[in-house]
Amino acid sequence: MNRIKNIVKALQTFSRTDNVGVKPVDIQDNLESVLTMVAQSLQAQQITVERDYSPLPTVEINPGEFNQALMHIVVNAIDAFDGVERDDRTLRITTTREADRVRIAIADNGKGMTPAVQAKIFDPFFSTKAIGSASGMGLSMTHTIITQAHRGHLTCASVPGEGTTFTVELPCHHQPHSPRAPVPMIPSLACS
Ligand SMILES: Nc1ncnc2c1ncn2[C@@H]1O[C@H](COP(=O)(O)OP(=O)(O)OP(=O)(O)O)[C@@H](O)[C@H]1O
Ligand SMILES: [Mg+2]
Repeated sequence: MNRIKNIVKALQTFSRTDNVGVKPVDIQDNLESVLTMVAQSLQAQQITVERDYSPLPTVEINPGEFNQALMHIVVNAIDAFDGVERDDRTLRITTTREADRVRIAIADNGKGMTPAVQAKIFDPFFSTKAIGSASGMGLSMTHTIITQAHRGHLTCASVPGEGTTFTVELPCHHQPHSPRAPVPMIPSLACS
């Protein structure tokens, strides 16, 4: 019963927020709703979630977009255990605050990536997964959502055979795109 309640609440957090634009949000609620939605995959793959949450201020984000970005990172982390033999499969989520920015690190101890793969992960359509099972658009979209729509940073550190950490860093206050610079006018030729 509790499980159903949790899933319903997670769905509400995950979907109700679509199209509301930017609003102040407790990022940890978003993380929890994403984790609830993938709870069955985590259990099936025997992945333990470790949470290391620091108290965070509310952060001004577009929750619908941000949830999608988190989901792409978390689903990739789960996929990173495919074909990996290890008993201590862990997904570790750490949140920290630094002045007016928050940082979310999502770390798996799955298969990791070679530097050659890592260099391409944000490219559209890049995938190492079986043809037909993946579009290769997940991280490219995530990168756009974090860096362009939210003016944040998205970085990745990975060691083959040891695991991968994605770090999302966001300003607490939304910084809209600066309006496009006006197109310079061709100076009219002065007639004298
Ligand atoms: N946590 C991770 N561990 C290992 N490799 C990863 C991880 N996250 C991403 N990758 C690599 O980056 C590639 C690109 O990821 P991305 O999410 O963009 O595409 P995808 O997962 O292959 O397909 P989809 O568009 O369906 O998400 C993956 O195919 C995989 O090789
Ligand atoms: Mg993916």
